Amino acid sequence: MRSAVQLACTLVACLSLCSAFVSMSSGPSSRRQVIQTGVAAAGAALLPSVVSAAAPAKAKVYETDNGILYVVRKEGSGPRPRDGDLVAIKYIGYLNNGKAFDINDGSVAGRKPTVFKLGAKQVIPAWEEIVRYMNPGAEYNIVVPAKLGYGDKGVCVGDGECLVPPNETLKFTIILDKVAISP
Ligand SMILES: *[C@@H]1O[C@H](CO)[C@@H](O)[C@H](O)[C@H]1NC(C)=O
Repeated sequence: MRSAVQLACTLVACLSLCSAFVSMSSGPSSRRQVIQTGVAAAGAALLPSVVSAAAPAKAKVYETDNGILYVVRKEGSGPRPRDGDLVAIKYIGYLNNGKAFDINDGSVAGRKPTVFKLGAKQVIPAWEEIVRYMNPGAEYNIVVPAKLGYGDKGVCVGDGECLVPPNETLKFTIILDKVAISP
């Protein structure tokens, strides 16, 4: 009976059931602030206008070890995810010109948060890295160099049309929705 219950525990169910059992994590190196501004300028430059309107006036911009710039819009709480954990994120992805190319922020009917196993290279390198800096519930705005996004291929179809052009710098608003140990 117990194994049947375990089998019935889908990814999504586990994310809520197991979130109380997240592992402790020391996380990446402490936050390095790269830019400090007394005005919204850096935040505005970093963020699409729709996002920057709601961003704090004194946006501090930090940088990860691999070169992702990030602004903390909302701090989370609880242990940060580490290798093997399942993480669920909500996000909006923007091209460098501010145009949204992928929206999964909970506003799209029927679309669930994106779930991936950390360290398993199931998603772009930027997501693999940035969630290690986030506590559950945190919301960041990030700027992603192309090499940590879709690289020099982009996301293109056969006829040359691209959802994401080659070598594109990307921006995301990303929320670490839930963290759970892999079932
Ligand atoms: C992308 O960048 C690489 C390395 O800088 C370069 O060789 C390549 O030509 C670029 N591709 C496009 C389509 O701009």
